[in-house]
Amino acid sequence: PEILVLNGPNLNLLGEREPEIYGRTTLADIEAMCADTAAEAGLGVRCIQSNHEGGLIDAVHEARHSTVGAIINAGAYTHTSLALHDALKAYDHPIIEVHLSNPHAREAVRHHSYLSPVAAAVIAGAGAKGYVHAVEILIDHLTNAKA
Ligand code: DQA
Repeated sequence: PEILVLNGPNLNLLGEREPEIYGRTTLADIEAMCADTAAEAGLGVRCIQSNHEGGLIDAVHEARHSTVGAIINAGAYTHTSLALHDALKAYDHPIIEVHLSNPHAREAVRHHSYLSPVAAAVIAGAGAKGYVHAVEILIDHLTNAKA
């Protein structure tokens, strides 16, 4: 079984982009960390990054029947995309929302998330390591051990 690791706009620039906010870990590093953590539970990962709202929605649709859960950092679409929210409503597996930074400690425009209402858990402000925690939490949800 596979989990979807979905990253939105500008996250392809991780490592170079505003490192004081987002750190120096690259997206390739993060995807490798997710793969390692998932493998410990016998799960594979499908890693997709898109700078386009429709690309993220297509990825969710394609994953509907072929993945068992999702880790999603939708970047700025977190705060704007009702369409991604609607797509995720049709995704019948646990979703963990991740942010490298803590959007609640930033500008007011980042305080609302269209993903949180459909997320089983939200991890924010833990940097790249937040993705590892997200995979662990997803595994807990999949094995029903939410402790
Ligand atoms: C982000 C936070 C968003 O507000 C921002 O637009 C991003 C990255 C994060 O991981 O901290 O692109 O999702």
